[in-house]
Amino acid sequence: MRKKITVIGAGNVGGTLAQRIAERDYADLVLVDIIEGLPQGKALDILEAGPVLGYDTNVIGTNGYDETANSSIVVITSGLARKPGMSRDDLVRANQKIVTDVTEQVVKQSPDAILIVVSNPLDAMVQLTYSVSKFPKQRVIGMAGVLDTARFRTFIAQELNVSVRDVQAYVLGGHGDTMVPLTRLTTVAGVPVEKLIPPDRLAAIVQRTRDGGAEIVNLLKTGSAFYAPSASVLAMVDSIMFDHKQILPCSVLLEGEYGIHGLFVGVPAKLGAKGVEQVIEVDLTDADRAALQRSANAVKELIEVMGI
Ligand code: NAI
Ligand code: 2OP
Repeated sequence: MRKKITVIGAGNVGGTLAQRIAERDYADLVLVDIIEGLPQGKALDILEAGPVLGYDTNVIGTNGYDETANSSIVVITSGLARKPGMSRDDLVRANQKIVTDVTEQVVKQSPDAILIVVSNPLDAMVQLTYSVSKFPKQRVIGMAGVLDTARFRTFIAQELNVSVRDVQAYVLGGHGDTMVPLTRLTTVAGVPVEKLIPPDRLAAIVQRTRDGGAEIVNLLKTGSAFYAPSASVLAMVDSIMFDHKQILPCSVLLEGEYGIHGLFVGVPAKLGAKGVEQVIEVDLTDADRAALQRSANAVKELIEVMGI
C-alpha cells in the first residue's frame, strides 16, 4: 500500500508543495484547508496533471481530517502571514490558535506521523506543535534552515558566477533577523568562501540572506515566498521517505546540544525514516556560539508570549 502524506493549508506554500510531492509519485496525498472548495479544487487540478507529468499519486482535498488518517508525514503550513499594523506578538497569538487546533486534529488521526512545521514564526510554532502533540522530539521538525541556506548559497553562487551545486553553506539559529549564517564553514568546491569573497561583500550577502524573506515580501506585496520554501520542505520529505539520512539544517529540539536546553532552534540534523535521527554538532567559535545563543533567546521570547 502506498504511504500517505498530508499537507495542512492549501495556500501558496501548501498548494505548491502538494504539486511537488505529487510529482514524486511515492505516496498519496491529502490537502486540507478551512476554505471550502480550495483544497478540493487544487487537489483535483494536481490530480489532472498526473497523466501529463506521468504520476499516479492520488490527491484528495478536504475541509476535514478523516481522510488524513494514518499519514506517515504531515506538513503544517496553515497560518497567517504578518499584515501591516500587526506586531510579531499579534502574529504569534493568531497562529498559535490555528496551529494548536490543527495539531490536535492531526494527532488524533495520525498518531505515528512525522510532523514538519512551516507556519511562522517558525521556531515558536514548531515548539508549540511539539507541546500540543506530545510526540517524541524525533517526530517534530521545523523547516527554515534549508530555505535560509538555499538563499545564502544562491547569493554566493551569483557573486562568484559558479554553480549553486558547488556551494556548501551553513545557516544556524532561529528563522528570523537573528539567524546565524556561518561564513567560516561555508565552502565553494571545498575552498573556504572567506578566501574567495572579500569581507565587505560577504557581509552584504549575509545581510541579504537574513533579509531574504522580507526581500520577497517587498516584491510580491501580497504574500511571502513559496517556491523556494516548498522546495525546501520537499528536500526534508524526500530524506524521510527515501531514508536518505541527509544532513539538513532544521529546527529541532535541543537538549544540551550547542549549550541550549529545551528549545527548538535551527541546527544541522540527520533526517531519515524515523525523523530526526541525529543532531550534528559542528565546532563553533565563541562569537558564533554567542550569536546562536542570541538567536535562541529571541525564540524563547516568542515562546513566552504564547505562555507554553
Ligand atoms: P497562504 O495564506 O497562502 O496559505 C495559508 C493557508 O492556511 C490559507 O489557505 C488558509 O486558509 C489556511 N488556513 C488558515 N487557518 C487554517 C486552519 N485552521 N486549518 C487549515 N487551514 C488553515 O500562506 P503561505 O504563503 O502558504 O504561508 C503559510 C505559512 O507558512 C505562513 O505562516 C508563512 O509565514 C509561513 N512560511 C514559512 C516559511 C519558513 O521558512 N518556515 C517560508 C514561507 C512561508
Ligand atoms: C520566508 O522566509 C516568509 O518565512 C518566510 O520567506
